[in-house]
Amino acid sequence: MDLVIRNATLPDGSQGMDIAIESERIAAVGRALPIHGRQEIDAAGDLVTPPFVDAHFHMDAALSYGLPRVNSSGTLLEGIALWGELKPSLTQEALVERAMQYCDWAVARGLLAIRSHVDVCDDRLLAVEALLHVKARVAPYLDLQLVAFPQDGLLRSRSALSNLKRAIALGVDVVGGIPHFERTMADGAESIRLLCEFAAEKGLRVDMHCDESDDPLSRHIEILAYHAQRLGMQGRVTGSHLTSMHSMDNYYVSKLLPLIREAGVAAIANPLINITLQGRHDAYPKRRGMTRVPELLAAGIDVAFGHDCVMDPWYSLGSGDMLEVAHMGLHVAQMTGQDAMHACFLAVTETPARILGLQGYGLTPGCHADLVILDASSTIEAIRLRAARRFVIRRGNIVSQAPAAQAKLSLPGRPEQVDFRLYR
Ligand code: FE2
Repeated sequence: MDLVIRNATLPDGSQGMDIAIESERIAAVGRALPIHGRQEIDAAGDLVTPPFVDAHFHMDAALSYGLPRVNSSGTLLEGIALWGELKPSLTQEALVERAMQYCDWAVARGLLAIRSHVDVCDDRLLAVEALLHVKARVAPYLDLQLVAFPQDGLLRSRSALSNLKRAIALGVDVVGGIPHFERTMADGAESIRLLCEFAAEKGLRVDMHCDESDDPLSRHIEILAYHAQRLGMQGRVTGSHLTSMHSMDNYYVSKLLPLIREAGVAAIANPLINITLQGRHDAYPKRRGMTRVPELLAAGIDVAFGHDCVMDPWYSLGSGDMLEVAHMGLHVAQMTGQDAMHACFLAVTETPARILGLQGYGLTPGCHADLVILDASSTIEAIRLRAARRFVIRRGNIVSQAPAAQAKLSLPGRPEQVDFRLYR
């Protein structure tokens, strides 16, 4: 075997597991495997997981914080206006450089697959070309899936539809949309119809920013589910954000959830961004504005947590840490039961992998040897500690290493403790 990882704890809780890797794939998983590895890693009971997956990101805007100025109100609408100010001065070199830097951060965080929306409302398609270039360059170590995203509105922006089709022709993978940003509810619904029919014709997946508002009467997720069902696109359509569902009438939601389930539409919440951008028009009490994650899960709907933004016009924080995303999602959704906390870990690993349609993702023989060894003994402890990524492995090769959380304490009246392992 090329590599054997010994004494791992797996996300399902099984302990003392060995993982054998041969030719970029997992060859065997079991207890005390009688196999010799040319290289061996002793996980010493630490959690070994398939890599983190971010199902919702904006790599064209990432790490542009402060350009050309900061978002003074911190609101969604000022962020969109600010992005509009920044767009004319974007260069392909700067876009590529920032995206490559972010991908380095991602790998160090064990984040090896990202679905990034890319704005197509620039007739030059500068960001599209830049991110297609980045996608090819990072392919050996990170799966970058791109969504053609009409940020300024498909029908509201003059050339958005033709630009979106050009972007798809250039190699962008997924059809995006932003129905709540169109001029009317009717235009929003029409944009969904046009985009879903285009995607169905091309055999592509759909992922729309959908109902990203606090408007309890926003109904675009219903229309998205309708067209997904009508066009036979079950399992290939995703509604991102769905924040208005937080504010919708409860009776209506009880009708809506089975429709989403029946249409095979997945949901993506973006906890860090939803909790900071929504509820801005509220006096107290302020709504949280994240979609109804536990209720969606209970209805049998796939729900992933996305990062959405890192140091961009909408959000000045973040570092590519999907455990930070899961940590915030857990708190905002009050998912504090044992099973619920574990589900938050799945929302940044297995579930987004399914939403992206990643092939060979997982921990069974035959899967890609893409693994992360965490400084934690369980999925819940990983979230609690935002645990260090001790080893990140891609196709059987170690691509990143980091030390466990340690400190050298020198406390008055107490013997010095060297290499004290923190918090466990
Ligand atoms: Fe987004």
